[in-house]
Amino acid sequence: MATYLSGIQPSGLPHLGNYFGAIRQHVELPARGGEHFYFIADYHALTTSRDPAELRARVREIAVAYIALGLDTERALLFRQSDVPEVCELTWLLSTVTGMGLLERAVSYRDKVEKGIAATVGLFIYPALMASDILAYDSNFVPVGADQKQHVEIARDMAASFNSTYGETFVLPEFVASANPKVPGLDGEKMSKSYGNTIWIFETGKALKKVVGRVLTDSRAPEEPKDPAGVLLLDLLRLFLAPGEQAEWEARVRAGGVGAPGYGHLKQRLIEVIEEHFAPARKRREELLADPGEVDAILARGAERARARAAATRDRALAACGLR
Ligand code: TRP
Repeated sequence: MATYLSGIQPSGLPHLGNYFGAIRQHVELPARGGEHFYFIADYHALTTSRDPAELRARVREIAVAYIALGLDTERALLFRQSDVPEVCELTWLLSTVTGMGLLERAVSYRDKVEKGIAATVGLFIYPALMASDILAYDSNFVPVGADQKQHVEIARDMAASFNSTYGETFVLPEFVASANPKVPGLDGEKMSKSYGNTIWIFETGKALKKVVGRVLTDSRAPEEPKDPAGVLLLDLLRLFLAPGEQAEWEARVRAGGVGAPGYGHLKQRLIEVIEEHFAPARKRREELLADPGEVDAILARGAERARARAAATRDRALAACGLR
């Protein structure tokens, strides 16, 4: 039976980029069978977070979002990374068989430092902790965004180097590319918390209207024929619309003339589809927030099972290297 595992950083309120790039796929995968482990990477979050109350709130928001969006928690385990401290032990074991050069080649470290994130030891060994997350559950497949591919390769290298030193201990994982729709932010750059250009998936009413109002447009009149490829609102609509309706909007924008939709019309439609698409999950989220016990129980059950698996792997690794 194949084992799938992925982690998501609690970096803020889940936005459309998080949803289409990761969460949606994690919610859909368990129906195909196999074992599924999805966790909130709160240990990793400490490489950037300095506010305990905010971190706690963000972790809960991600857990609530997965459940509200329909993750089948019978088939998939949902848990907090820090409820499985065994991964920290594995991080140490792996770090002793990993050459400095392997981590020095990790691009995410350099990217993050360039963006102004503190160059801590934790940030540097981030890939070793991520490798432990992956190896702890004997994961075969790791569905993540392309930006995480190198990390999965590093995990594979670390596992191979431990295995060749101490004998077969870890399963070698494979990267699985996430469905990769382009999710542009309000300004047309990639939607990302760090660019301040996100749309929260559960936004609604006036607040949604306001944020969609900020989607970048230009001063061209509705009547002016336009290349749909240059209309950011159409890129956002494409994430939600059936191909037929999408083609219709594009044709009308391309044709221009009397009755062609203006940016205001496209914004109105975008607001409608966001409201509709997330309506059931938004309702479920409200229920989950009103009854925190349900979320706690799901996380506790996930943690308990995940931890048993990780402890078995840890024991195997300790025995292999002579500590048991
Ligand atoms: N680094 C991942 C990200 O930022 C999160 C993560 C942590 C992860 N551990 C993982 C993803 C293990 C997959 C597997 O998105």
